[in-house]
Amino acid sequence: MIDANKRVILKSVDLIRQFKQYDTVVTAVNRVDLEVYDGEFIAIIGASGSGKSTLLHCLAGLDRPNAGKIFIRGNEITAMGADELAAFRGNYLGTVFQSHNLIPQFTAMENILIPTLMCNKSNISYEEHFKKLISSLHLEDRLHHLPSELSGGQQQRVSIARALINRPQVVFADEPTGNLDKKNAEEVLELLIQTKDLLSQTLIMVTHDMSIAERADRVFRMDNGVLTPYDNKGG
Ligand SMILES: Nc1ncnc2c1ncn2[C@@H]1O[C@H](COP(=O)(O)OP(=O)(O)O)[C@@H](O)[C@H]1O
Ligand SMILES: [Mg+2]
Repeated sequence: MIDANKRVILKSVDLIRQFKQYDTVVTAVNRVDLEVYDGEFIAIIGASGSGKSTLLHCLAGLDRPNAGKIFIRGNEITAMGADELAAFRGNYLGTVFQSHNLIPQFTAMENILIPTLMCNKSNISYEEHFKKLISSLHLEDRLHHLPSELSGGQQQRVSIARALINRPQVVFADEPTGNLDKKNAEEVLELLIQTKDLLSQTLIMVTHDMSIAERADRVFRMDNGVLTPYDNKGG
């Protein structure tokens, strides 16, 4: 996976995110330096409360760090204003969460197409891309169902399709299989890895499941806000 031509697609420098709780300060992300190469699958593991979600939210431009810088595709997202950041996220980033946050009144298809209303990338043939995504996520027969009419695994696959419809270059996933049973979790993980390869994406995933982390190119461990490399291949 990693070769001489590797190109850094995401980089964080001395990233700090703190929360004030009454008169104490929690340092959820403590001076994190990270370099991710184009096309990599990165897994981030660590105990509950160690700062994984906070780090992922900062990297995905959903939360602002107190200090430090984040570059994606060479663009400093920490220097962008709200509108510029929203447009950048729409163009290049996708996010999948544990709770899929589908809109209950919209069908699966409508939910999937929401991001295209906000950002119409002129270089994408949506129709072709949509068909490809739907078929690889096995959603052909479910497009006109409401979220309440879908199983948990199907709902999560719809939220993955929604995250990928704009062909993001970097996909952030926070425990995407956390609410699913083993069989559905394996299927969703498999599909995330397949679509990552199909669409040449970079995947950054928070997970507490070591069998998932074993599939990653590199694993990092979060411990009290501090990120360190973790040897997932043993030895
Ligand atoms: N919005 C917030 N306000 C205050 N404290 C927060 C907030 N979000 C996270 N934290 C605190 O930051 C720490 C890391 O949380 P989190 O990133 O959710 O950890 P993880 O995802 O590893 O379980 C925890 O101590 C948590 O209580
Ligand atoms: Mg979390």
